[in-house]
Amino acid sequence: MPKLVWLNGTITPLEEAVVSVQDHAHLYGDGLFEGIRIYNRRVFKLDEHLRRLYDGIAYLGFEMEMTLSEMRTAVLETCRQAEIADGYIRLNVTRGTGLGLDPKNINRRPNVMIMVSSLALYPPEAYETGLKVVTTSFRVIPPDCLDPRLKTIGRYVANILAKQEANRQGAGEGLMLNYQGQVAECTGDNIFLVKGKTIRTPHPSCGILEGITRNTVIELARANGFTVIEDYITPFDLYACDEIFLTGTAAEVIGMVMLDGRPIGCGKPGPVTQELTRLFREHTQTGAEF
Ligand SMILES: Cc1ncc(COP(=O)(O)O)c(C=O)c1O
Repeated sequence: MPKLVWLNGTITPLEEAVVSVQDHAHLYGDGLFEGIRIYNRRVFKLDEHLRRLYDGIAYLGFEMEMTLSEMRTAVLETCRQAEIADGYIRLNVTRGTGLGLDPKNINRRPNVMIMVSSLALYPPEAYETGLKVVTTSFRVIPPDCLDPRLKTIGRYVANILAKQEANRQGAGEGLMLNYQGQVAECTGDNIFLVKGKTIRTPHPSCGILEGITRNTVIELARANGFTVIEDYITPFDLYACDEIFLTGTAAEVIGMVMLDGRPIGCGKPGPVTQELTRLFREHTQTGAEF
């Protein structure tokens, strides 16, 4: 599969795509991104990802000339040319090019990248056996400091630190609490717990990214008779529940079977996790065709 990049209007092989060292995201993290999956020649939840990206563009005041619908066309065209059936798209939009924080002093023509590639976040066997997770010392950025709906490149340094801390402890993923000690999310995934017949997931006001996979799983679960509550959750709730699973574009749906060295439920991905994984996989066939 050729890895292709659409960069500011030109499609090239991945190795040939270059941006200026003065790109404002390279210098300051002043950019936005989306990760999107391709399943069976269909781009999954493309419109939802583009909506989130363009809401971020509006909030940050990027002087974007490319419309959402032009971006949609470019994404689908790049996938078509990459002749890819299953893969991962990385979409980046940065404010522009130039040194200095002040946007008025830089070339404010956004740099736009659509990279069509592949990504495996966790080893394939983790989808059968489940993930071991540890609670990290890194807290999510409080929502009144940086709105969590903003999927900015710069925000992710805290998540990378949390991931490193988890790696050092031999865990596959790191859990991040918020400033109040409530459960927020993992470094690139949202979290759900199952207790009895009820599924709970942190409320968006806990400082989480309101994941597109999260929202899809909530919809699928409710449509299939489960009760799902967006709630305030503490580590106590996690230690004492029956099942935990994570969701995300890269992660998809994956069971968490151990937290901080304690087994969760029976220590294997439970029946609700398995059922929602099945429903999610079925639903991945509904994306935008190219
Ligand atoms: C911090 C964080 N939380 C949650 C998610 C899951 O969001 P989505 O399902 O939209 O990929 C991601 C993935 O982008 C993320 O980076």
